[in-house]
Amino acid sequence: MQTNTSQPTAGITIVTGGASGIGLAVVQLLAKLGRRVLVLDHSADNIAAAQKNLTQWGELIAYEQMDITQEALIAPLLARYHTATEPIVGLVNSAGFGRDIAFLDTDSAMVRAIFEVNVLGAFNLSREVARLMKDSGGGAIVHVASVSGLIGNKGRSAYGPSKAALVNLTQIMSNELAEYGIRVNCICPGPIETPLAMSVHSDAVQNIWKNAVPQRRYGQPEEVAQAIAFFLNPQTSSYVTGQILSVDGGFISAGIESARSVA
Ligand SMILES: NC(=O)c1ccc[n+]([C@@H]2O[C@H](COP(=O)([O-])OP(=O)(O)OC[C@H]3O[C@@H](n4cnc5c(N)ncnc54)[C@H](O)[C@@H]3O)[C@@H](O)[C@H]2O)c1
Repeated sequence: MQTNTSQPTAGITIVTGGASGIGLAVVQLLAKLGRRVLVLDHSADNIAAAQKNLTQWGELIAYEQMDITQEALIAPLLARYHTATEPIVGLVNSAGFGRDIAFLDTDSAMVRAIFEVNVLGAFNLSREVARLMKDSGGGAIVHVASVSGLIGNKGRSAYGPSKAALVNLTQIMSNELAEYGIRVNCICPGPIETPLAMSVHSDAVQNIWKNAVPQRRYGQPEEVAQAIAFFLNPQTSSYVTGQILSVDGGFISAGIESARSVA
């Protein structure tokens, strides 16, 4: 039997939004595994806190303060890191944000702002990284979408469609890029205890989520990071591409006991 595990693991993995929440947990896990990581994050405060947190792996982690919506900055930045001996082999698109606003109150400026980061930021970075991977032997790209991109959670008329776009983009990219040894997969987190979720979810909303999730709790960023690491590593997922995996305590597949609700 022949399997394709020839996709490279040695090299750099880029994690957008890597200075907080799910992205930060991915950075920590990869560093623990001895992988080199480049954190792209627009928040100087979050980067400073992450650097303090991750000093133990200081030599493995580089940080760049960058807004991923600044398309013109992407190619020059990648050119500084991508080398023949240490190519970019992984990309995790975790930078993103959302708002809980009723459809009737959501204006086009909010839709544009969310799509600019969640969709165009991930799209442009993925395209530039894939161009490099195509010539350097392949790699793995993971989009961080959301369960709100799979079903109609209330208050998510801007955020949900942005994440649904990433789900479909995963399928198209995986289809087009397979011939270059590039695998593309997608994680859909349910409620995860991160600074983003805690700032958006009131106590009442947190209770609604806990009742709607069969495991009756929020997930931890580390639990999402483990699933992302599985997709990144060709040793564990060489024949896995185009997949959409919910990491959600059972939320998406729940039936009548866990009534779907706001949040
Ligand atoms: N936490 C949850 O419950 C949950 C659920 C489903 C999906 N998600 C998704 O997971 C991803 C990570 O969320 P989190 O909860 O870890 O959030 P977080 O706010 O804790 O971390 C997000 C990081 O992304 C950075 N960022 C935001 N916009 C950026 C930009 N334009 N350029 C560069 N960096 C930027 C922020 O500075 C921050 O450090 C997001 O895409 C989010 O939509 C989160």
